[in-house]
Amino acid sequence: MKKITIAIDGFSSCGKSTMAKDLARKIGYVYVDTGAMYRSVTLFAMRNNLFNEDGSVKTTELEKMMNNIQISFVFNNETGRPDTFLNGELVEKDIRTLDVSSHVSKIAAIPFVRKAMVAQQQRMGKDKGLVMDGRDIGTTVFPEAELKIFVTASSKVRAQRRFDELKEKGMPTDFNDILKNVEERDYIDSHREVSPLRKAEDAIELDNSNMTILEQSEWLMQKYTAACEKVQ
Ligand code: DC
Repeated sequence: MKKITIAIDGFSSCGKSTMAKDLARKIGYVYVDTGAMYRSVTLFAMRNNLFNEDGSVKTTELEKMMNNIQISFVFNNETGRPDTFLNGELVEKDIRTLDVSSHVSKIAAIPFVRKAMVAQQQRMGKDKGLVMDGRDIGTTVFPEAELKIFVTASSKVRAQRRFDELKEKGMPTDFNDILKNVEERDYIDSHREVSPLRKAEDAIELDNSNMTILEQSEWLMQKYTAACEKVQ
């Protein structure tokens, strides 16, 4: 069967990665979480003191150091998803903290950061057979993707999901802080100049506020089957 490219975009914490990862596992595709890449650059910037007191980024310094940032993924058999490595160090847990979440939108809005990440993402997908989730996959990274999904859910539902996820990982955080962060990121991600978050014209929209993970999974599998039938 011909392999296709699957782009899953949408707001933060709306369950994109759960859906994307499950589908990839079922159909034997590679899964790439592009948010983890922007989070890794953010962690690098935080560790190297590249944020000013006012929260802005020391862009000149960061640009000079971009070549020192190597991001890679290694599949973890136990969790069933790829672990993120920054310069060879496992950073999967460090990139998911609220501290990184509250700095990442500033990093993701920088044009030279996006250019470098998009180039790496396009290299990863050159042979198709991958499910990639993010904000600009269907619009910028793979505008020719055979299947594009745009996922939404209310900000409260998304904050609750992130709250549950952090609690489960043993990283409890205040619900209202998470909600504030989710809403701030929605705003910054949709209003930035380069590749703002928006639905591609040919993307299928899914509001999963009231859906179970199983229902989403089945819905996505149907869309995948239909997209494959179209290209055979
Ligand atoms: O999906 P996530 O919450 O882990 O993403 C982290 C941040 O990275 C998010 O605030 C927006 C940004 N991002 C982006 O700008 N483009 C992508 N393709 C993926 C994520």
